[in-house]
Amino acid sequence: MIKVGVLGAKGRMGSQVCSTVALASDLALTAQVDVGDSLNQLLGADVVVDFTHPGAVMGNLRWCVEHGITAIVGTSGFDDARLTEVAGWLTARPAARVLVVPNFSVGAVLMMRFAELAAPFFESAEVIEMHHAGKVDAPSGTAGRTASVISAARAAARTGPMPDATATAAEGARGAEVDGVRVHSVRLAGLVAHQEVLLGGHGEILTIRHDSLDRASFMPGVLAAVRGAGGLPPGLTVGLDGLLGLA
Ligand SMILES: NC(=O)c1ccc[n+]([C@@H]2O[C@H](COP(=O)([O-])OP(=O)(O)OC[C@H]3O[C@@H](n4cnc5c(N)ncnc54)[C@H](O)[C@@H]3O)[C@@H](O)[C@H]2O)c1
Repeated sequence: MIKVGVLGAKGRMGSQVCSTVALASDLALTAQVDVGDSLNQLLGADVVVDFTHPGAVMGNLRWCVEHGITAIVGTSGFDDARLTEVAGWLTARPAARVLVVPNFSVGAVLMMRFAELAAPFFESAEVIEMHHAGKVDAPSGTAGRTASVISAARAAARTGPMPDATATAAEGARGAEVDGVRVHSVRLAGLVAHQEVLLGGHGEILTIRHDSLDRASFMPGVLAAVRGAGGLPPGLTVGLDGLLGLA
């Protein structure tokens, strides 16, 4: 039985993680912690899952590392500087494990992998991400990550520059450039979270599309992380790819 503590337990994601863990016969939900609760409630857990807030997650994570509890982080905001900081804490605790997962949706992880595989074979690649009107950041972290993996795959294969004859453009018309890949962000009432990767070549276009329709889409990935994190090598792991057999 894996003992699981949840941080941000009253939030949209955290509450769903609590119900999902509670229903799994091989997992025991041992702590549900939210603002104002003591982190000491997490003592005794094998794994802690954090879905809190970018402003709170680093303190929580450091506490987990210092107490030798494997931490799985879904909270957003993990840029390179943060990952470096976490890796620094882990050098002092070589047995501890931290798994940072920018996207728990298995479909989104596969979309990024498919885009990475396809990228060297096409002249052009652009990303369109579409989200509900309440999203505060643009482009989405997943779109930015997709652009980065496309860019790296093209560079590794020495794919040439993308053709683009644009000579004049209204501001923003060609989207944001992330690692040399154009990313377009749509914000529209009624949408949830959607992304298309467009790959264009000679007389053909490949479109890879993913639609997140409900937070339930994250739960299989959360369960894979909770069940698999203890078997990861000690230290920092980013992404679900390894646990899904995609690394
Ligand atoms: N990785 C993924 O696949 C994925 C998917 C969805 C959301 N997210 C991210 O997860 C985070 C949470 O999203 P949400 O929609 O559940 O937000 P939310 O606002 O509904 O929930 C956050 C919860 O964390 C609690 N909290 C804040 N500070 C805390 C602290 N110091 N200790 C304990 N609890 C604390 C809040 O009270 C709240 O209950 C966000 O950063 C979001 O971007 C990631």
